[in-house]
Amino acid sequence: MAVLDKLTSKEAIELENKYGAHNYHPLPVVLSKGEGVYVWDAEGKKYYDFLSAYSAVNQGHCHPKIVEAMVNQAQKLTLTSRAFYNDVLGKYEKFATELFGFDKLLPMNTGAEAVETALKIARKWAYEVKGIKENKADIIVCENNFHGRTTTIISFSNDPVARKNFGPYTKGFIKIEYDNLQELQEVLESSNNIAAFLVEPIQGEAGVYVPSEGYLAAAKKMCADYNVLFIADEVQTGIARTGKMLAVDHENVQPDILILGKALSGGAYPVSAVLANNSIMDVIGPGNHGSTFGGNPVAAAVAIAALEVVADEKLADNAEALGVIFRAELTEFCKNNYLVESVRGKGLLNAILINDSEDSSTAWDICMKLKENGLLAKPTHGNIIRFAPPLVMNEEQLMDCISIIKKTISEF
Ligand SMILES: Cc1ncc(COP(=O)(O)O)c(C=O)c1O
Repeated sequence: MAVLDKLTSKEAIELENKYGAHNYHPLPVVLSKGEGVYVWDAEGKKYYDFLSAYSAVNQGHCHPKIVEAMVNQAQKLTLTSRAFYNDVLGKYEKFATELFGFDKLLPMNTGAEAVETALKIARKWAYEVKGIKENKADIIVCENNFHGRTTTIISFSNDPVARKNFGPYTKGFIKIEYDNLQELQEVLESSNNIAAFLVEPIQGEAGVYVPSEGYLAAAKKMCADYNVLFIADEVQTGIARTGKMLAVDHENVQPDILILGKALSGGAYPVSAVLANNSIMDVIGPGNHGSTFGGNPVAAAVAIAALEVVADEKLADNAEALGVIFRAELTEFCKNNYLVESVRGKGLLNAILINDSEDSSTAWDICMKLKENGLLAKPTHGNIIRFAPPLVMNEEQLMDCISIIKKTISEF
C-alpha cells in the first residue's frame, strides 16, 4: 500500500491499532472531511459533529476565513522561533489582550502547556511579589479537575487512570471540593503560603459540572481578600462555548490569570495562551519560559482570524440561544424516559446523565447508535454523554440533532 493511497475505514483503524500507541479509545469512525457542523467518514457518510474535538472546533470545521489566514501566512513565513521577532505575533498579542482586557499574553501551543505556564507564573509571582519563602508556595486545585496530561498536572488529578504509575508526583498542590466555598475559605485562612487557586469555570471532562450561581464571583473575591491569584482554565469553556466569550463572563469575573487553548485557533492549529496584567506577567523574563513553536506567525494569524469569526458570527449569542433550546427539549424528553436521568450545561456545553451504573456500557452503546444515526458524541466518565456541537450550528440543524438524540435513546 502506497502511503497516500485512500484507505477504507477498516484499514485506517487497523493501521492506528497496529502502529499507534493505544492512548485513546476512539469511537470506531474514521473521518476524512469536515465542513461547518458536519464531518464525513472515509466511505462518505455524513454526520453531525457533537463533540467539536472537545470544544476546539467552535467556529465549525475548516472555517474558510481561518483556513485562508492559515494558508496565506503559511505561504509567507511559518516559524522563526522567538530568537527573532516576527511581524504577526505583536498584532495578535495586541488584538487578544485588548479583547480579553489584560496587559500581556504569553503564547504557547497546547492547553496543558498553557496550564503549566500559568502555574509557573503563579509560583514565581508568589516568591517575587507576594513574598512567600522559596519552595513553599501552594496552589489550590479542585477535585475531579482536568487540566491536561503533563507530569505536574496529573500530580493533582484524582483520576486513577491518568495518574497510576506516573509518579513520583509534583508537590505544592492542595485539593478542595469543587463548588465548595467554605473549603476554599478554610484553606485560604489556614496558610500564608497560597499562591493561587486554579479552577475550571465548568468542569468539562469530569462530566460538565456547572457550579452554583455566584461560585466563581465569590471565589474570586475570596482570593483577592487573601492576595491569592485566581486562575481560570478556560481551555474548554472559553471562546463562546458557554454562551459568553468566557464562562467567567457569566459572573463578571476578571481572572488574574486566564488560560486559553482549543478554539483559540478554531481547531485549525495548536494555539494556546496565558493572559495576565503586568504586575503578574512581568515576573517572567528572558529564559524563564518558552517554546519553539509558541507564538509562531501561523498560530498568530490563525488565532486572530478565529477570534474575529467568533465576533463576526455572534457565536456566543448563538450558543446561548441554542443551549436554552437544547436543554429545554431534552429536559422535557427525560421526564418520560427513564434512561436519561438529567440534563445539564451552559450554552452549547451540555451533558446528559444516563441512568445506569458508572461502569456500564450503556452510554457507549448509545454513542454507537447515535453514530449509526448520523451524530457523533462520546461518553465522558462512564455514564455521562457530553454534547458540544460547533457553535455555527443553526436552529434547524439543532432540532434535527435533537430528534436524532431522542429517537436513538428511545430505541434503548
Ligand atoms: C479545562 C482543560 N484544560 C486543559 C486541557 C488540556 O488541553 P490540551 O489537550 O490541549 O493539552 C483540557 C483538555 O481537554 C481542558 O479541558
